[in-house]
Amino acid sequence: MNKKEQYAAWYRQSIENPSQFWEARAHDYLSCFQPWQKVCYWDYTTADIRWFEGAKLNVAYHCLDRHLQHDAQKIALIFERDEPGQSEHITYQTLYEKTCQLANALLQLGVRKGDRVCIYLPMIPEAVIAMLAVARIGAIHSVVFGGFSPQALHDRIKDADCKLVITANEGVRGGKVVPLKANVDQALEIPTSVTQVLVIQNTQTKVPMNVLRDLYYHEVVNHQPKHHEPVPLDAEDPLFILYTSGSTGKPKGVLHTQAGYLLYAAFTFDYVFDYQPQDIYWCTADVGWITGHTYLVYGPLSQGATVVLFEGTPQYPTPSRFWQVVEQHRVTTLYTAPTAIRALMGAGDQYVTAHDRSSLRVLGSVGEPINPEAWQWYYQVVGEKRCPILDTWWQTETGGILLAPFLGVAEQRPGCAGLPFFGVVPAIVDVAGNITPPDVAGDLILRQAWPGQMRTVFGDHKRFVQTYFRKHSGCYLSGDEAKQDQQGYVTVRGRADDVMNISGHRIGTAEVESALVAYHCVIEAAVVSMPDALSGEAMAAYVVLRADYIWESDLEKKLMQQVSAVIGKFAKPKKIYCVEVLPKTRSGKIMRRLLRKIANHELSDLGDVSTLANPESVTALIDALQKKNISSEA
Ligand code: WTA
Repeated sequence: MNKKEQYAAWYRQSIENPSQFWEARAHDYLSCFQPWQKVCYWDYTTADIRWFEGAKLNVAYHCLDRHLQHDAQKIALIFERDEPGQSEHITYQTLYEKTCQLANALLQLGVRKGDRVCIYLPMIPEAVIAMLAVARIGAIHSVVFGGFSPQALHDRIKDADCKLVITANEGVRGGKVVPLKANVDQALEIPTSVTQVLVIQNTQTKVPMNVLRDLYYHEVVNHQPKHHEPVPLDAEDPLFILYTSGSTGKPKGVLHTQAGYLLYAAFTFDYVFDYQPQDIYWCTADVGWITGHTYLVYGPLSQGATVVLFEGTPQYPTPSRFWQVVEQHRVTTLYTAPTAIRALMGAGDQYVTAHDRSSLRVLGSVGEPINPEAWQWYYQVVGEKRCPILDTWWQTETGGILLAPFLGVAEQRPGCAGLPFFGVVPAIVDVAGNITPPDVAGDLILRQAWPGQMRTVFGDHKRFVQTYFRKHSGCYLSGDEAKQDQQGYVTVRGRADDVMNISGHRIGTAEVESALVAYHCVIEAAVVSMPDALSGEAMAAYVVLRADYIWESDLEKKLMQQVSAVIGKFAKPKKIYCVEVLPKTRSGKIMRRLLRKIANHELSDLGDVSTLANPESVTALIDALQKKNISSEA
């Protein structure tokens, strides 16, 4: 059977007989202390999803201990620091020992099964060690991206009721210092359930320590025994919570569990990237996002892969940085985001061609639609037309890749995410829930369950049901708009809801709006996205000020700072317009479609404005924008 035939046969089986299909894969990919009794059960009405019930396993055991017999001295992590020329190789044996030491320390500090541990770290080996150690003792990690502000960190710690935070004195990214410990101090100013903070001394800088709460990581970890018996956990015990943005203001704590997630991470990693044991695999995503969880940590380590862990950014100190790392470590598989590809494309080909990329075999893309121009550059210049491009579509909620142009199976089509993975049944539907004809866009839904999908929103199962399973009953709603052609290829166009994707970061418009409205002189705000050549999408914000306030030139800066303080710098709008009133429908809804067109200067085609309660607002809006553009050009 060739790969195409195998894909077709497996796909059919995965849909017609999921239990049989996934049982066979679990035998290939999972090593359990105790076997499962039932492969799968799902009910999309109540959003009750369970895989491999009865099985007992440990994800950290899977990612470490299993490899020690034959591969103890194999490199697990190649750690590449922000500054070039400083790399460190960490074997599976060392990673195992360091994880066991932290697991023992956490137990000594009173962390128990089911407790939540917040990880707020830069891209350093301890981030991986922390995730594995927390998982090893059956606690639940909640990794918060280091770019989040103290307030955003506080909100996440509070929502998950974390007991302990693992952080570093500071991080270094692109030559800039990130004051992680200071952010944690600020986040914990208003009391939370956190009783202890473990601080990694990552740079020379001394930071203030709170004697009642803070402990140096090395002081509690380094003397611990290098062995720890893994705790057998139930298949559906929680593994981690990861916060992501949705259409409402409050980020959702996406909860993933043990067996289904691990199997899906391992199998997709192996199949999609055509993993070979000698590969040097580099995923550039931060551990603070789902790609970092599934394809930097759990997928590759479960397969015993050698993974590059990079602390820095693509353009520091020069736009050659990525290609220099590829050359130096002989990277075979590169998995990165379109936003990085576009930025590097803009810097010029000479930065790429100056480095030997002959080790590269497969190039992956994730996080946002890849525009055909960036696709072509990635394919022709970076991969020298030798390496296939894997445009992988998935979400925090899906746990792993759902659509991709599988190697040896699908055609390479720029901008098209390709075919469904096993067990994944995509459909494109209109508002009424009818499947659209080929090539007609609509809501991308998934009609069957797969092992890697999220199980609930932490602490709010009702929200899980309402967000994902209500609009098209019996199906999972992705929130993306897509189209599918006659051969089954899916092209994802972007979000269909109020979620923006800025440089691959998921940001809810409502989150930014509530940050703006929290500023004392703003009474109303509306945020829309605009296309942007570099970041894919950029954000424009419209604000209405209290009647007794007038727009001052530094207000825009202050409002930008406000968004940085509430969420993080990465969520700052590109432009902020002050308007007297927002266009609203008679039912009181802000007409975002109109705001989007105005922000994009598509003034000749504003569409139907007959449902507006205040049509005069449109002229006032256009005036306000033009005035602002003239003043900013002056
Ligand atoms: C978008 C990242 C088009 C999409 C793994 C999705 C993509 C959101 C692609 C999830 C792709 C991700 N093509 N769009 N290949 N990959 N997206 O949760 O809108 O950070 O819903 O997960 O990113 O973002 P998240």
